[in-house]
Amino acid sequence: MRIAIIGTGYVGLVSGACFSDFGHDVVCVDKDAAKIEALERGIMPIFEPGLDQLVARNVAGGRLTFATDLSRAIDGAEAIFIAVGTPSRRGDGHADLSYVFAAAREIASELKGPAVVVTKSTVPVGTGDEVERILREEAPGAEARVVSNPEFLREGAAIEDFKHPDRIVIGAEDERAVEIMREIYRPLYLNRAPLLVTSRRTAELIKYAANAFLATKITFINEIADLCEAVDADVQDVARGIGLDGRIGGKFLHAGPGYGGSCFPKDTLALLKTAEDSQAPLRIVEAVAKVNEARKRAMGRKVIKALDDDARGKTVALLGLTFKPNTDDMRDAPSISIVQALEDAGVTVRAYDPEGMEQARPLMPNVELCKSPYEAAEGADAVVLVTEWDALRALDLKRLAHTMRGDVLVDLRNIYPPDEVESAGFVGHGIGRPARTRD
Ligand code: UGA
Repeated sequence: MRIAIIGTGYVGLVSGACFSDFGHDVVCVDKDAAKIEALERGIMPIFEPGLDQLVARNVAGGRLTFATDLSRAIDGAEAIFIAVGTPSRRGDGHADLSYVFAAAREIASELKGPAVVVTKSTVPVGTGDEVERILREEAPGAEARVVSNPEFLREGAAIEDFKHPDRIVIGAEDERAVEIMREIYRPLYLNRAPLLVTSRRTAELIKYAANAFLATKITFINEIADLCEAVDADVQDVARGIGLDGRIGGKFLHAGPGYGGSCFPKDTLALLKTAEDSQAPLRIVEAVAKVNEARKRAMGRKVIKALDDDARGKTVALLGLTFKPNTDDMRDAPSISIVQALEDAGVTVRAYDPEGMEQARPLMPNVELCKSPYEAAEGADAVVLVTEWDALRALDLKRLAHTMRGDVLVDLRNIYPPDEVESAGFVGHGIGRPARTRD
């Protein structure tokens, strides 16, 4: 099957590489000539484990190519995926659909024959209808069918998620379009990945409802963690105790500093806008978004409290800056709010992250970025574990403690058992664990 993918961001590039790995003939298109040129030289625009090898293998096999010229790329394509960004619109939180509609118009102006046009970008309910209108008005003879096919991949595990999905959702109003989509996903379908065919609007809503539900689960356990701290209970045991109930499930119950990234914060806001416009308020999601936003800064206050509320002039080392491990993505990362809260309180911040320092630099210009966790901890009064990178899971805690001036370790991901932290000489503070007090 010949496929064109418009947009070589996270979703576009991973989807293109995986589709070509299934044996399809894929062209990935982007307006950014420098990005395309770099991709042709094997340089990835994002850090995603395994992506460079996957791309190299399929480029070498002649199944994956890159282009800036949309017209040639879509010529003869049976499916054209729109995988451009839908950031939050400045000021109101609505999803900014200008890139999606621009792509639809460009496709319309070049489309010569029948094709399925698939929105893979996360788009609010009704966007497919608008894309269809554009295609119908601007390419009346082309016979374009518009499908919604939302993506559920996680950064850092994107290839695995693409190849072993929990489900594939296809929102279409037309049998022929469904047939083509089934053909594209046949390799996964044979692996028994459930393929759910719905109306286009329903598929669009499934994506937002899934992200909002996961954000709710995280926020729920984060609030339970606060309660655990207040009543001397352990959130990890609570999470296990409820997660073993099959109706609840154990995933996404890790309490932490609040969710970040390019999806949950933006998608919950966009869903709230849809709900507001449709006069069907989602009060739970409203609370989730507010609680999570407040939590990130509250983590800065937690560190200050761990310094006995005497933070001015002190130095704090942050270990892990990205919103989660295995990515260099800093979008809406809790570390940004933590740095702000600490700097506002007169703290000097040093930091280390395995992959995210280049992206972090402009976001935290006063933070000294260090070459290793131990260098960051040198002379610090407190160390804060913000992101659970593998490289931060097996630190030599005694060595870390020796390089420091103080003895405070705030573990915002509960990576280390409290006993280990204590025997290394630290006063430890976790999330949702009974507080340990200085002797
Ligand atoms: C999320 C969804 O998990 C994907 O299914 C979806 O496709 C994607 O958004 C998207 O819409 O594109 P992602 O943002 O890459 O994926 O990362 P997650 O692994 O979901 O983590 C999001 C945030 O939640 C991170 O800050 C993470 O640290 C936090 N989190 C996650 C927790 O604090 N606790 C948990 O138990 C799980």
